[in-house]
Amino acid sequence: MSFAKIIGSGSYLPENCVTNDQLAAKLAEKGVETSNEWIVTRTGISQRHLASDNEKTSDLAVIAAQRAIEDAGIDAADIDLIIVATSTPDFIFPSTACIVQSRLGIKGGAAFDLQAVCSGFVYALATADSFIKANNAKCALVIGAETFSRILDWNDRGTCVLFGDGAGAVLLQASEKPGIMATQLNADGSLNTILNTPGRIENGVVTGDPFLRMDGQAVFKQAVTVLEKSAHQVCEKAGVSLDDIDWMVPHQANIRIINYLGRKLGLPTEKIVTTVAEHANTSAASVPLAFDAARKDGRIKAGDCVLMQGVGGGFTWGSALVRL
Ligand code: ACO
Repeated sequence: MSFAKIIGSGSYLPENCVTNDQLAAKLAEKGVETSNEWIVTRTGISQRHLASDNEKTSDLAVIAAQRAIEDAGIDAADIDLIIVATSTPDFIFPSTACIVQSRLGIKGGAAFDLQAVCSGFVYALATADSFIKANNAKCALVIGAETFSRILDWNDRGTCVLFGDGAGAVLLQASEKPGIMATQLNADGSLNTILNTPGRIENGVVTGDPFLRMDGQAVFKQAVTVLEKSAHQVCEKAGVSLDDIDWMVPHQANIRIINYLGRKLGLPTEKIVTTVAEHANTSAASVPLAFDAARKDGRIKAGDCVLMQGVGGGFTWGSALVRL
């Protein structure tokens, strides 16, 4: 039986880095009041990277993918599956994954987008794992890429300070050894209104609300509850204990959610990778961005056991337990 093993990773952040103070000054020009102190205390965020007007989600995804391919040392032509997790695709169609495939010069194999908002990367990893285990793919490129700055209401201080843009990618290859040990995915669609972007296009016109809306406190409560349960479930599935985890790479939405979860699971902060201060919440890109940062700075090493977790709109959540 084949496993799916991570053989490389890469990431990309847009050049334009905006600190809380810079954002607060910009928002003040339009009468929206916020401060570095409020943002840091409530969220742990200090800055975010924002895509320029002509930078699309696929542009971010392609650079992250090129870096992952270089890191893995493979030929791009070997990739026979591309999944892009995104809620901010370039177009309604074709998929961002097809654009990425073309820009990488790859012909053949499957390419599609997957939309599970901030859980998107974990969902995409689980999907690619299933393709490889079923012998339907041998080498999968899994990307989380977002330009959430395009769907933010810059007059809503309760949401616009929380997000950033970016992309992260991993390459998975069929292997006799794990690899991805277990995944665990969930959705509760009855909670679809606590975090959503409910606009749509009808007859050529955007109708409804095209911006991200969130009931922050409901999301907070839901996130900590479901992620704790999912961590236990994925460990049980893989037959490992929480003590066996070398690193947790959680969705980077809010440092208070991450710290709360670490305490509940008994994972010391030294084992938790956090990039929320530097990246803010990059939705589906947050887990692969954090994972790549910790791999490249030498924290996550070959042989380590890594718990990745995503949670977000839908409401969706999930975990992946991975042996590097
Ligand atoms: N700057 C200054 N004041 C603000 C800001 C801001 N950016 N945003 C809101 N406020 C004010 C509000 O207007 C309110 O003022 P009032 O008391 O005068 O009415 C006050 O701060 C408190 O507002 P709340 O929304 O109740 O603030 P809360 O303490 O809940 O913090 C936050 C908001 C940070 C969003 C919190 O609910 C939270 O952490 N939620 C988790 C959700 C999250 O992290 N979402 C990320 C996306 S979802 C995901 O990725 C899973």
